[in-house]
Amino acid sequence: MTAVLEAHGFGKRYRRRNWALRGVDLTVPEGSITALVGPNGSGKSTLIRAWIGFERPTEGRLSTGGVDPGKDRDAAVAKVGYVPQSPSLYGNLTIAEHITLATTLRDGFDAALAAQYIARLSIPLTAVAAELSGGEQAQVGLALALGTRARILLLDEPLASLDPLARREFLHVLVEAVRSEGHTALLSSHVITDIEQACDRLIVLGKGHTLLDLSISEALAHHRVVEGPPSFVPADALVGSFPSAGGDSLNLIRVPAIQPLTADAPPVGRSATLEEVVIGHMAAGRLRRAAVPVEAAA
Ligand SMILES: Nc1ncnc2c1ncn2[C@@H]1O[C@H](COP(=O)(O)OP(=O)(O)OP(=O)(O)O)[C@@H](O)[C@H]1O
Ligand SMILES: [Mg+2]
Repeated sequence: MTAVLEAHGFGKRYRRRNWALRGVDLTVPEGSITALVGPNGSGKSTLIRAWIGFERPTEGRLSTGGVDPGKDRDAAVAKVGYVPQSPSLYGNLTIAEHITLATTLRDGFDAALAAQYIARLSIPLTAVAAELSGGEQAQVGLALALGTRARILLLDEPLASLDPLARREFLHVLVEAVRSEGHTALLSSHVITDIEQACDRLIVLGKGHTLLDLSISEALAHHRVVEGPPSFVPADALVGSFPSAGGDSLNLIRVPAIQPLTADAPPVGRSATLEEVVIGHMAAGRLRRAAVPVEAAA
């Protein structure tokens, strides 16, 4: 496995406040589509921005396509197609002008490819960015990121403002681009049901740490859900407890991937959905006492 994005003991502390992230060790394999999930403030944007060199690590080391973004930001930026969490278009420029601008700012920018993606969105090149809806702007952002032909795509909550059909179309374009061009994509999202179809890996951040880092098939194979109070399950198997949408108490448990299928030992509980795996680990992260030292603001 070739790692395209790496974090080794990565920590980020803003000014002299609490650590946003600490002790993060991650590798994102080439050709994968990785979902980066975690509650608000768990450090998703911080990590993405640090991989492009927009945030400097307070400690530890990152690698972006073999480049240390803390040392050579320009080289890291050149390797990445990035869609930031907040809209990044210039309100008074048309889409065609954005493409021209990208061509002048970015070596190797493929204007024809970007225009092709825009055409698929049925957005006219003459449209002014400020007149597009939030979802349309997000889709233009992806088209421009794909136009860079960068091998690494870092997309910070690209689905947040899209309607369900647009989400599907966005993910379809992304998956197609990754598969046909051999890209690697990492996208942060809160919408787990969508990413389940498109992503093959899952990273969950919480409380300043990595709570989970594995393939989606491993995530599903290694967890099950047991209904009832937490005391119903062995403490060493329990990951976290959380309510169902209807208010019942659910427990996410860790299980061996291959369970004995005998009449004496039927599998415990039922299969977990990916959303339940993520919520169970988030619930566990919320309970876990912050292992990160909290320092007084300067
Ligand atoms: N520029 C900054 N200055 C100070 N603190 C910051 C800055 N950017 C982020 N933080 C803090 O770092 C932590 C992680 O923030 P970050 O934006 O990375 O979270 P996130 O997981 O992307 O959240 P969201 O889901 O809301 O987008 C938060 O506690 C936030 O307040
Ligand atoms: Mg964010």
